[in-house]
Amino acid sequence: MGAQRLDGKQCASSIEANLLLRIEQLSHQGVVPHLAVIIVGDDPASHVYVNSKIATCKRLGIQSTHIELPSNIGQNDLIKHVIQLNEDESVHGILIQSPLPQHMDEEAMTDLIDPTKDVDGFHPTNLGRLVQGRLDGMIPCTPHGVLRLLEWSGVQLRGKKAVVIGRSRIVGMPLSLLFASRGIDLTVTVAHSRTEDLAKVCAEADVLVAAVGIPELVQPQWVKSGAVVVDVGINRVEDSTHERGWRLAGDVNPSVSEVASWLSPVPGGVGPMTIAMLMENTVRSAELMSSNE
Ligand code: GUN
Repeated sequence: MGAQRLDGKQCASSIEANLLLRIEQLSHQGVVPHLAVIIVGDDPASHVYVNSKIATCKRLGIQSTHIELPSNIGQNDLIKHVIQLNEDESVHGILIQSPLPQHMDEEAMTDLIDPTKDVDGFHPTNLGRLVQGRLDGMIPCTPHGVLRLLEWSGVQLRGKKAVVIGRSRIVGMPLSLLFASRGIDLTVTVAHSRTEDLAKVCAEADVLVAAVGIPELVQPQWVKSGAVVVDVGINRVEDSTHERGWRLAGDVNPSVSEVASWLSPVPGGVGPMTIAMLMENTVRSAELMSSNE
């Protein structure tokens, strides 16, 4: 028997339905949530993600500003854009799509964003709140999406062992903090590229999250029978059987479905949840800003 599907598409649409009500409420106060997205350079995958964020804004009635900058732009020009968006009272959320070109300091750019508009949740103020165990700041979208998908699917987490493969600023690290926080109460191991005997570490997990960007790294032998497996990976792999010459692959081999109790698909798992959480953070920022006026 195959694992049950952690259906991010369906979960995200139930979140969107709730957001539509909140957006309607805001409209009575003359407020339209507004997200500004900055993308630098021409990485095709990043453009796909950004376009999908902008399309979701449109569908929900969230205003969006899409700023596309060439890869050879100087860091000072990017700084000017961020400062301008910080000062613009009509903007509730600012996102700089990662990765930035090599010559830019991504963390320094994130530090510039007004923490109340930091809908990515990457500013040290928001990450610091997460370290303190406070879930009232902006929580990074992919980690928050993973948690909400598990909760929506009815997976019991309290006291269970979680292994997170990957310690990135965007997913692995904040997800580990979120999982370990009071009220969620997972016991978390953070594994990474230097972890010895990764397969053995993974085999201990009741909840296994793969966020390393290595296509189909996690094999069925690595997974405890009945474990819940979340695949955060979105990798392009060459495949001559596809017309376009490539296909999308997660970080988990699909045959893990034979061992796991739940598995998130790629695509249609974590991806839609990341976008739903971005929309939720934007709406929340608009609500907070309008209640402080
Ligand atoms: N690149 C990949 N995922 C993300 C994300 O969640 N936010 C931003 N800003 N860039 C990303």
